Amino acid sequence: MRVLVTGGCGFVGSHFVRRLAAGGVEVVVLDKLTYAGNPANLEGVEHELRVGDIADPEAVEAAARGCEAIVNFAAETHVDRSILRAAEFVQTDVHGTLVLLERARESGVRLVQVSTDEVYGDVQPGVDATESDPLRPSSPYAASKAGGDLLALAFVRTFAVDAVVTRGSNTYGPNQYPEKLIPLLATNALDGVPLPLYGDGRQTRDWLHVADHCAAIELVLREGAPGEVYNAGAGDERANLEVAQRILELTAAPPELVRHVQDRPGHDRRYSLDSSKLRELGWSPERGFEAGLAETVAWYRDNRAWWEPLKSGEYLDYYRRQYESRLAQG
Ligand code: DAU
Repeated sequence: MRVLVTGGCGFVGSHFVRRLAAGGVEVVVLDKLTYAGNPANLEGVEHELRVGDIADPEAVEAAARGCEAIVNFAAETHVDRSILRAAEFVQTDVHGTLVLLERARESGVRLVQVSTDEVYGDVQPGVDATESDPLRPSSPYAASKAGGDLLALAFVRTFAVDAVVTRGSNTYGPNQYPEKLIPLLATNALDGVPLPLYGDGRQTRDWLHVADHCAAIELVLREGAPGEVYNAGAGDERANLEVAQRILELTAAPPELVRHVQDRPGHDRRYSLDSSKLRELGWSPERGFEAGLAETVAWYRDNRAWWEPLKSGEYLDYYRRQYESRLAQG
């Protein structure tokens, strides 16, 4: 089998490429290599890398040649950045998805659209979001992903394209760019600098280890039904404050490093997924959060050479813009 993985140099994408390649699949990676795309994530993994944009039909056509399926991880993914500059999110997450759908339509191959639980917006306490729930995205990022999902489903209906959608919950593990909560807090704690928590820190997320997330996506690639959406969440719900405290313990950093700072605008308080549809297909997460977090923090402790160079240049500009005045007020 030959598969095109778009965004294969990013966090979840690179773990997915590693998994497919280990299973003997021939993998072509199309990646624009934005700040979050890192070829070092694929060191030692057999694959063909093509540098290009999913919004560029020629680049997609060339990369997809001979492939039996496309799995789309290519996306602008960070909510805070989407609040600063929404247009890039629409361009990649909506328009780029459209280009991939056109390719799937022309070539008759399956497209797996990797999406997110954020499309459901805030989920009320005691409730889990199901695939048929209305989409109520809160951020430009979530709205862009919802746009991509809806285009995929419309292409199934109108053109009988073989597209399936996965909606994963908050994912963590090695190789995650240090703008996301867990790697940001872990690397800051290791450096002994403040850990910024938005608002009261009591927002909750449903944490999923990257290996379990990739297993879910591969199952959907192989066995998902066209036009269906599959939620993938471990059901391991934690408050951000609890995650921060656990990271402080794991790094032996002092509790005073936690700073409550000005909240994210439009911040969803809670995500929680009902993943029974995917479980019926045969998936179940294998990694508990406690052990997965400890292993992840240990990876960041042991792999400074991976993340230290990332915390420079563009990252520092973004970090200052996002946190400097928040931390000064906090
Ligand atoms: O739910 C899946 C989504 O998870 C993915 O689709 C997104 O691409 C991914 O970025 C993530 O979205 P979140 O906004 O939930 O992740 P983030 O790591 O940015 O934030 C997790 C929680 O931590 C959220 O409640 C905001 C909070 N937070 C985050 C950062 C970066 C803080 O309190 N302080 C921070 O500095």
